[in-house]
Amino acid sequence: MNAAIRAAVRRGWELGLETLGIRRGYAGLIEGDLSPLTPRDVGGIIEFGGTFLHTARCPAFLTDEGRRRALATIEKEGLDCLIIIGGEGSLQGARWLSDQGIKVVGIPASIDNDIEGTELAIGVDSAVNTVVWALNRIRDTALAHERVFLVEVMGRESGYIALMGGLAGGAELVLVPEVPVPLDEVAQKVLSLYQKGKHHSIVVVAEGVTAKVGSTDMIANFLRERTRLEVRVTVLGHLQRGGSPTATDRILASRFGAQAAEDIKAGLFGHMLAWQKGEIVRVPLEVVRRKKMAIDLRLYELVHQLAI
Ligand code: F6P
Repeated sequence: MNAAIRAAVRRGWELGLETLGIRRGYAGLIEGDLSPLTPRDVGGIIEFGGTFLHTARCPAFLTDEGRRRALATIEKEGLDCLIIIGGEGSLQGARWLSDQGIKVVGIPASIDNDIEGTELAIGVDSAVNTVVWALNRIRDTALAHERVFLVEVMGRESGYIALMGGLAGGAELVLVPEVPVPLDEVAQKVLSLYQKGKHHSIVVVAEGVTAKVGSTDMIANFLRERTRLEVRVTVLGHLQRGGSPTATDRILASRFGAQAAEDIKAGLFGHMLAWQKGEIVRVPLEVVRRKKMAIDLRLYELVHQLAI
């Protein structure tokens, strides 16, 4: 997100726009916590994850009172337009603001990659690369000790990170919320690989699957009992949402940020910028209402076809 903010501020500056940074997203909008940003203020941030403006889950923005106060800040500060960077919740908020007559441009950012209308969101590539980095290390122990590893990755409702991380990391199995698989089958698959001479397995488990079953530890216990193999669990957690962003992420975010400034200058509002077929396009904010099916089932097949 830092790269997107940097690009919006700097491109906007060149186009004669004055940009203010709102701290902690909608919370800052409600509280009027904002200040001007110049090109110098956004220097030295492109290499950091997260956002230097901070962010917050903001239940208050779902209340009438919170929304009234947000609109009051926009009025009081004389904000002509908002650039809203975030996931489905943030973009739903953008849509609501747009419906109230506020000029907004949305930028998709969610490591889950489940935002309808865009093939890629900011943060996704870095998160997937972190998973691959972790799987590379975990495989050493899995191979040396001939163990089964369950690696839990983020994705409350989406299996994208699990699938892409698992595919790139050479996992034997991925468990995603979009494709329910009985644990018996998981045990069977691990055992059949073992019988074919593969004495280790890496099973990538999306958080959304874990939530349904109870916990990844419970899956591990089940596998231990059924397979009699040594099973270990690693939960990657918030490791996936930090660290220096990949080049792909920085480039995508820079393009989104600069385009947002250009759209504002051109008087184009009420849309989310999106990535489709190698280009930045504009999609109506209404599209964001539904979460997209984040995974490509052909790739899901491929992971398992290659795990022999
Ligand atoms: O929405 C993105 C996401 O990464 C989910 O996959 C994950 O469950 C959640 O955020 C974690 O959120 P928090 O940091 O608030 O615990």
